[in-house]
Amino acid sequence: MSERLVIQSHKGPYAIEFTDEIFAGAAADEPQRHYIVDARVAELYRPQLAPVLASKSVLIVEAKEANKSLERAPDYVAHLMGRGIKRGHVLVAIGGGIIQDITCFLAAVLLRGVEWHFYPTTLLAQADSCIGSKSSINVGQYKNVVGTYTPPARIGLSTAVLQTLPEAEIRSGIGEMLKVHMIAGPNEFDRIAADYGAILADPAMMRTYILRSLEIKKGIIERDEFDRGIRNVMNLGHSFGHAIESATDFGVPHGIAVTIGIDMANFTAVRLGRMAQRHFDRMHPTLRLNYRGFERTEIPAGRFFAAIAKDKKNTDAKLGLILPDAEAVPRRVECANDEKFQADCCEYIARIRTT
Ligand SMILES: NC(=O)c1ccc[n+]([C@@H]2O[C@H](COP(=O)([O-])OP(=O)(O)OC[C@H]3O[C@@H](n4cnc5c(N)ncnc54)[C@H](O)[C@@H]3O)[C@@H](O)[C@H]2O)c1
Ligand SMILES: [Zn+2]
Repeated sequence: MSERLVIQSHKGPYAIEFTDEIFAGAAADEPQRHYIVDARVAELYRPQLAPVLASKSVLIVEAKEANKSLERAPDYVAHLMGRGIKRGHVLVAIGGGIIQDITCFLAAVLLRGVEWHFYPTTLLAQADSCIGSKSSINVGQYKNVVGTYTPPARIGLSTAVLQTLPEAEIRSGIGEMLKVHMIAGPNEFDRIAADYGAILADPAMMRTYILRSLEIKKGIIERDEFDRGIRNVMNLGHSFGHAIESATDFGVPHGIAVTIGIDMANFTAVRLGRMAQRHFDRMHPTLRLNYRGFERTEIPAGRFFAAIAKDKKNTDAKLGLILPDAEAVPRRVECANDEKFQADCCEYIARIRTT
């Protein structure tokens, strides 16, 4: 079965093509392709990728943060120049968010811009990051601080590649799916929550919710591609989540830290009198199920608060958080980083470790 979803962007429309055939069309000859492929995916899918791996220009990259950095960019540029890249050629990314960020960044700056295509292989990339135009590159210790808005010209999406993805990575992607469903409102969240078990067990159900997650995100990014207004709600769970990632030396996968972050945002919103306890109770069981196995991870309070105070969405005096309102709809709020806020966060962390 083949389906398409078209996204409007400042560079024009681009389509996500859902196909059953893994990497369908990746190995076309014209115009010339230059491939950037996740090392693990290259190994796992050697037969399906045989024409790609046999082509003239292939860069195999291990999906680690150190490789998604400005410091590594000269090697990638030298490789591509050495393979004779020209403006009319196409860069093709095959992998998850790390390969996406590297390729998107190179496509934006190399020769002042070349076309790029994306075959996302992680659930996080398929259900969330593949649309939205952003690339983010690390510089030294600073994560995701350099980047551009450069969407791919096309996305080829096959859920069959998710069969080899470790369960923690699947749940990381589901964390972002839960996030957009909560943004779309309580009915949408309750629907995905009711189908949570089925999503893990049934590929057709997984595909339905990937498509729905992308449709919800499309509705937001088409109105605010450059993240100047309503797109900021997509940061739900992220200020808390990034602080958890940082305080645990990235011991918690991104989308799982975001899942804990959403639960923590809900808890804090109840404590601030913004949202009724029943909404926390309604969402908590599904969120908890999704971060199971990580609830006892040590989150040192000092490192957590130091990290959340540095979040790029903060104003000089206050934390810029996305917290649910009385209807459980996420909104941007400025929140004092005071003793009460910190005590609420500490209580939340202590509670999930012990209950
Ligand atoms: N640009 C954006 O909009 C955006 C959005 C969210 C996240 N990101 C970035 O994405 C990165 C995280 O990306 P991610 O979560 O997609 O994972 P990833 O790219 O880090 O890959 C995770 C792991 O899964 C492996 N893998 C990938 N596909 C596989 C498959 N089909 N089978 C088995 N193993 C496979 C990889 O080799 C790696 O070990 C972070 O650097 C984050 O900052 C970017
Ligand atoms: Zn995220």
